[in-house]
Amino acid sequence: MKIAIFDSGIGGMTVLHQAMKLLPDEDYIFYADTAHVPYGEKPKENVKKYVLEAADFLAAQDLKALVVACNTATSVAIEDLRQKFSFPVLGIEPAVKPAVLESEKKRKKVLVLATRLTLKEEKFHHLVERIDKHDIVDGLPLPGLVTFAENFNFHEDQITSYLREQLKPFDLKEYGTVVLGCTHFPFFKDMIRKIFPESVNIIDGSIGTAKNLKRVLDGRHQVGGGTGAVSFYKSSVKVEDQVTLNQYQKLLERLDHLQ
Ligand code: DGL
Repeated sequence: MKIAIFDSGIGGMTVLHQAMKLLPDEDYIFYADTAHVPYGEKPKENVKKYVLEAADFLAAQDLKALVVACNTATSVAIEDLRQKFSFPVLGIEPAVKPAVLESEKKRKKVLVLATRLTLKEEKFHHLVERIDKHDIVDGLPLPGLVTFAENFNFHEDQITSYLREQLKPFDLKEYGTVVLGCTHFPFFKDMIRKIFPESVNIIDGSIGTAKNLKRVLDGRHQVGGGTGAVSFYKSSVKVEDQVTLNQYQKLLERLDHLQ
């Protein structure tokens, strides 16, 4: 049986990377819905349809669990997925709770960087309403980072000038915690860190999601039994060409250096 990790694109690799560290003896399927990326700039109903189609494809592969390694897909489709399938379906959402607890102590604010759709969705608004009692949470969509990542573009000068431009309306000294609420964003953690004051903590949900996955599999006595192999899919097409597989390998290595 396999673990499927799903995203609109390569962002989900930030979760795959943590899952492989925590659960090395598993067989993984990594599915990037590259035919439909970016989800964050599309209408909710379209995204929901893409996610359900991808999940149907993955469900036919004898799964132990499906990890929706995409904040946007989680916010629009997680309930539907959980109703539809009998295997565990795990999602990811912006780590607002730890960020608010931390920033309240620092008497600072929280900035959630995510996709436009995630920030617009009810699920996010409910989360913030529940936790943010002192109105310290701000949000900013950064669709450009999704495009940079999908193009394997990690040129620091281009990305830094995009980030500085987007962050212009914000007084960065006011923030204590930045939440990376899109799985594509941890690829740029080093560059984001350089822009904010040193005291700012940058958090993302990839480790938490991997820990959740381990907890769920432990509870079902389903840990292990695999070889650590990963099959990569671009939408429903298996990636076989070595150039792309090498690019994916490099992305995983990039994440090793970003800890
Ligand atoms: N990686 C996705 C997320 O975590 C979304 C990127 C996109 O397709 O816009 O929200």
